[in-house]
Amino acid sequence: MNEEQALHRILALTRELNDHNYRYYVLDRPIISDQQFDKLLTELTGLEHGWPQHTQPDSPTQRIGGQPIEGFESALHASPMLSLGNTYAESDLQDFDQRAQKILGRPTRYLAELKIDGVAISLTYEGGILVRAITRGDGTRGDVVTANIRTIPSLPLKLQGNDWPRKMEVRGEVFIRKPRFGELNRRRQEDGEEAYANPRNFASGSLKLLDTSEVKHRGLDAYFYAWNQEQATQGNQEEMLKKAIEWGFPVCPHHSGAGDLEHILQFIHQWETKRESLDFDIDGIVVKVNRYADREELGHTAKAPRWAIAYKYKTQAASTHLLSVDFQIGRTGAVTPVANLTPVWLGGTTVKRASLYNEGEIERLSLRLNDPVWVEKGGEIIPKITGIDTTSGKRGVRPVVFPKNCPSCDTPLQRIEALHYCLNSRSCPPQQLGLLEHFVSRKVMDLNCVGKETLELLWQQGLVRNPADLYDLQHNALSSLERMGDKSARLILDGLDASRSVPYPRVLFALGIRHVGETVAKNLARHFPSIDLLAQATQSELLSVHDIGEKIAEQVVAWFSAAENLRLVERLRSFGLQFSCELEGEHATSLSQKLKGLSFVLSGVFKRQEREHLKTLIEQHGGRVAASISGKTSYLLAGSDAGPSKLEKARQLKVALLTEEEFEQLIT
Ligand code: IVH
Repeated sequence: MNEEQALHRILALTRELNDHNYRYYVLDRPIISDQQFDKLLTELTGLEHGWPQHTQPDSPTQRIGGQPIEGFESALHASPMLSLGNTYAESDLQDFDQRAQKILGRPTRYLAELKIDGVAISLTYEGGILVRAITRGDGTRGDVVTANIRTIPSLPLKLQGNDWPRKMEVRGEVFIRKPRFGELNRRRQEDGEEAYANPRNFASGSLKLLDTSEVKHRGLDAYFYAWNQEQATQGNQEEMLKKAIEWGFPVCPHHSGAGDLEHILQFIHQWETKRESLDFDIDGIVVKVNRYADREELGHTAKAPRWAIAYKYKTQAASTHLLSVDFQIGRTGAVTPVANLTPVWLGGTTVKRASLYNEGEIERLSLRLNDPVWVEKGGEIIPKITGIDTTSGKRGVRPVVFPKNCPSCDTPLQRIEALHYCLNSRSCPPQQLGLLEHFVSRKVMDLNCVGKETLELLWQQGLVRNPADLYDLQHNALSSLERMGDKSARLILDGLDASRSVPYPRVLFALGIRHVGETVAKNLARHFPSIDLLAQATQSELLSVHDIGEKIAEQVVAWFSAAENLRLVERLRSFGLQFSCELEGEHATSLSQKLKGLSFVLSGVFKRQEREHLKTLIEQHGGRVAASISGKTSYLLAGSDAGPSKLEKARQLKVALLTEEEFEQLIT
């Protein structure tokens, strides 16, 4: 293929893939399978690699920058991002309507939209291309978070059609869907990390991350509901929403048609209960004057427009009593306090338990046993205690005390950041059982023949204490267990046999190292293709791996420094489990040993190669990549805008600076 043909194909693929994205994310009507989509995307990625100068700004491959940003710039909003007047009372809506009618001298019609509980964002498109995304900030000035916003797959990087204004600002809300949020939180807790508090904080925190690939992984979404046009004196909101969809914007599918206040109130009542069925959080309804000319006439106060008001739903809360607190130990030893409550009806279900997160939360609430408490259902499935119900004036007496020792094995607990841990992973029963359950689960070793009850039974009988013990099980010991016959025993042994072919990254995940979830395990296995290499890796070598931070590196080093863990690995290995893998793709090919013994740190933006590709090249030529400069660093490979602290450190430690071009000379 020559350059011209490549350019042709790149343009066609970019257009085609963007169209499929639009059909999938905005219209919700895909016409090709995910597999077919991935195939086209792979083709485009390959072509862009060969002819990087022809990569289009709206290419779907450009949704991740790949390079961590050093910080955010701030920028002024073209016009202030105002907030809305809030109300919980319908009478305020009547007043709002009266006031509007009075100013306008006639009735006007409204449109009601869901008030999405996320973070406001302002996007600027120039010539139909997304050029800037700014957070609300203080309303006048916000953070420029364009790279992070680009990772949101439903959002158009380039607009469709051609009747959009040359320069256009749209505003909307970035949020996370509840199932995704639940899934991420579940995994986090499994990995022994603190759960994210709620979907809104999660979304706003995500926009402030410096690593765009992490933002992409989080899976944010967005809906748009406003555009900021000088000529917005023509037209109305209803038409704008239709137009926005035509241009490729994701728009919330639920809004009322334009109508009078009566019509709007009906919409509000309807969604009071229907909102439970949405897969994202809303905290109310926004009522907006439909006609833009009327909005213009109504104007705004210093804080909020006079043409819109937010009707907020009351959070669903109920008063009940705190009966007791359980301190549960997870597989990683993290202790989670869970409140037992007098059962109470709340938002369609009976609530008996509530999460208390950590010691800080208990202190914040200054909880006592038998306290009357308020429980609320937020975005999370598990309700939470939001405060003491003071209406009766009665309180409990005995304060809730966080235990000093593990309630199960009595080992003194250690506090690490906000969480308490029992570090006796080897013989603390819930941790042992938790690890066994994790090990056999579908996403790990997939031993569904060994159910939870069987594991408990095996544990109680003292037959199995750790995953390696499973492989020592004999047929007669198994079949003599309660409710277990010859057939089930066979099934278990066959399952264990089959698990010997589970690939190394999953086996690594199965070991239950704190903070080493599925993705981290894959990353580690790619860089350390055998467990022996991983076991010998130093903290700084681990830090050089993409997405491995200090917390993870520390845990990995600690795990491999414990003799019993090494013994576990040895036993599992002797049973035939996979502890190494063939390298796939570009990492596999060793090109030379020119960089043998050299250690590199990368900083800044690179023009000729992607940062990830540079890292691969270093490794392919026998070198190592580290995250931070130390006495052992051979070179600082510096692109433009290299971090000033790294440059300074390199100067102090007399580490040589290398440009991209010099680096290329080094390996050719
Ligand atoms: S219109 C002048 N429409 O609610 C402000 N806002 O309290 C016009 N929000 O900052 C905003 N869903 O972040 C509008 N359908 C919707 C909305 C919405 C959520 C948020 C937005 C705004 C806040 C106002």
